[in-house]
Amino acid sequence: MEKRVEFLYLQQEECIKAGGRDMEGCLKAVERSFFLHGKNDYIQPGKPVIRWGGPETEEVTGRIMSMPSFLGGENYSDELESRNLIGPVNTSGIKYIPSRPHNPARFRLPRANAVIIISNPDSLMPSCIMDGTLISAMRTGAASGVAAKYLAKKTSKVLGLVGAGVQGITQVMAMKGAVPALEECRVYDINPKIYDYFSEKMKANNVDIKLKFVDTVEEAFIDSDVISTATMAKKPYVKPEWYKEGALHCEISFWDTPAEALKVMDFVVVDDWYQVKHHGVDVSWRAVRDGVISDKKIRGNLGEIITGSVTGRSSDKEKIFFNPIGMGIHDLSEAHRIYRNAEKMGLGKKIPLWDEPIFG
Ligand SMILES: NC(=O)c1ccc[n+]([C@@H]2O[C@H](COP(=O)([O-])OP(=O)(O)OC[C@H]3O[C@@H](n4cnc5c(N)ncnc54)[C@H](O)[C@@H]3O)[C@@H](O)[C@H]2O)c1
Repeated sequence: MEKRVEFLYLQQEECIKAGGRDMEGCLKAVERSFFLHGKNDYIQPGKPVIRWGGPETEEVTGRIMSMPSFLGGENYSDELESRNLIGPVNTSGIKYIPSRPHNPARFRLPRANAVIIISNPDSLMPSCIMDGTLISAMRTGAASGVAAKYLAKKTSKVLGLVGAGVQGITQVMAMKGAVPALEECRVYDINPKIYDYFSEKMKANNVDIKLKFVDTVEEAFIDSDVISTATMAKKPYVKPEWYKEGALHCEISFWDTPAEALKVMDFVVVDDWYQVKHHGVDVSWRAVRDGVISDKKIRGNLGEIITGSVTGRSSDKEKIFFNPIGMGIHDLSEAHRIYRNAEKMGLGKKIPLWDEPIFG
């Protein structure tokens, strides 16, 4: 019996060659994971987090999270196919994701980096170890994109973006990919120096949306049908009166919106309420914990809306708040898509774990 164990190692450039910047593919992978989440065909324990203080220190000194998960799909092959959602995953993996907010200024490195391991489903030996930094940013954008596909008004034309950093870029790529009717994006960042870089990235990724850089955060909100907040803000700045009738607000960062503002929402959708509570930083959880809103305002998980067990938007007047904490099953689903592409394309390096294990 072959005892040598090899895994495929994919560095970021190889992930890109294997479709790592293909937002259309990533949207499918992320919708697949939401769908299987809605069908309860997943395992996803609460994320262990190392942080050097309370939840609020994550935006200052950083944190390290590890996100293990299993994603199935075998029993839903036909439905996945009819929804054009790639196919089953049926394996498990983990993302290890440290974040150091001073990295860009101090080292010209990304704030967050990630490594993903995908297991062989039979032996549970590693079958792929890959960069997860790009996957993580793409899947976070795609989660908002899928939310907009299901929760935005069909007549949505204007997107408001606050925070034009790494996540801001993938937010707009995904929103435009998922809601092609969006025509204009009003962008606000506290640091306008990054607007040129942001514009370049939109062009490089063929995002066909008119960019309007605005001088105040209010201008990014007022009249926007869909809003995304993706900042490193440390204190809330959003005003409830800024929301237009029928707006969808996707808040992927943590301290932008005050709990009070959720009172004007018709309902809140999360990715996984158990994970949101467990991590304890999302405003939707803080608002319920502090009695600002009732937990009845948490309509459910997006996967339940996608599979139809929970009702989504029922009128163009409803204001909806989408507040994902970020799920390991998104990383696994997107990493699996890239791994499969890389295998077909012969990319990456085969690295042995051992030739002959000491035990076994
Ligand atoms: N929920 C999720 O699944 C998920 C996943 C990944 C990242 N995140 C979170 O998204 C946030 C952004 O991450 P990133 O990688 O894009 O960081 P980044 O540093 O690349 O970009 C953040 C941007 O926000 C801007 N900014 C900071 N404070 C602001 C303010 N008060 N108003 C307007 N703009 C402001 C900065 O100038 C910067 O351009 C982080 O909090 C991160 O933890 C959430």
